[in-house]
Amino acid sequence: APSDPDLVARARAAKEKLGDKVFVLGHHYQRDEVIEFADVTGDSFKLARDAAARPDAEYIVFCGVHFMAESADILTNDDQQVVLPDLAAGCSMADMATAEQVAECWEVLTEAGVADVTVPVSYMNSSADIKAFTGRHGGTICTSSNAQRALEWAFRQGEKVLFLPDQHLGRNTAVRDLGMSLEDCVVYNPHKPNGGLTPEQLRAATMILWRGHCSVHGRFSLDSVNEVRERIPDVNVLVHPECKHEVVAAADYVGSTEYIIKALEAAPAGSKWAVGTELNLVRRLAHRFAGQGKEVVFLDKTVCFCSTMNRIDLPHLVWALESLVAGKVVNRIQVDKETEHFAKLALERMLALP
Ligand code: 13P
Ligand code: SF4
Repeated sequence: APSDPDLVARARAAKEKLGDKVFVLGHHYQRDEVIEFADVTGDSFKLARDAAARPDAEYIVFCGVHFMAESADILTNDDQQVVLPDLAAGCSMADMATAEQVAECWEVLTEAGVADVTVPVSYMNSSADIKAFTGRHGGTICTSSNAQRALEWAFRQGEKVLFLPDQHLGRNTAVRDLGMSLEDCVVYNPHKPNGGLTPEQLRAATMILWRGHCSVHGRFSLDSVNEVRERIPDVNVLVHPECKHEVVAAADYVGSTEYIIKALEAAPAGSKWAVGTELNLVRRLAHRFAGQGKEVVFLDKTVCFCSTMNRIDLPHLVWALESLVAGKVVNRIQVDKETEHFAKLALERMLALP
């Protein structure tokens, strides 16, 4: 639906008044009406770097989800203020690993005698607490665009990796990019005593995967891949690594949101693509590339928006910007000093990956 012209004018006016004082970042899963006002767009890695690259901006308005805004706060100066236009924009995957659960898991690993040789690698999609845990225990953060390099780094530091919280990204990277076998991976279930694993299983495993997942990408199935291949004979299947292993194994190309966009930009006219990631992005790409004779379809027949990404809409963005114009910072995301210190260690290890 077209955006409310009044709100568009108000957003424009507020941004103009704020000038260089405000820097608006937009994740690729954001609504069109929000993306229109983003100074930069990107995947979670690019946005983390971009946020740190504007130390002159007083306000960082993060159009994305909570863990992204936290990471921006960690990576920016103390006097810069990070705003999340709707505080309810969380991430169900990030919520699947709490600080208490992860501390308990580390106890289980310690009792099995493997904690000393285990390096935590945490997906960007995790709370600042989990990032701090990771930093404290010598680990790194990764995103979907550098997970391979992060795992390679981790296996130079230790024998095993505890991968948090997305089991699919962990498994897909270990098997697809590092050549490990599915048997090298075990799944730690925080809702079961000892994670549902015996000390022998923990000692035998190379990858200990946290039992978390993305419900949006979890909707894609092997059936969706088979069905689209049947329907569109020459189709290229391009999916995000948060998809299940069987989906990734059956796809032609796998990568982050930024990778997906670049792959379509480089594709020849006349090519056909079925894309398995969030629907706002796929729709925008379908529209953009239709003009260049590239057919882009959504991988599944059911509709798959990320409901929390979608919470950031034009009314919330206008409210956040107009409040800043009035000198009032709303919905500030601020990570406490100690958490920030250790989370930053882990994020900086990621930024320093080769
Ligand atoms: P990327 O943008 O890093 O590919 O991540 C996708 C995602 O799920 C963010 O929540
Ligand atoms: Fe979280 Fe999945 Fe939404 Fe990304 S798409 S923010 S992982 S729920």
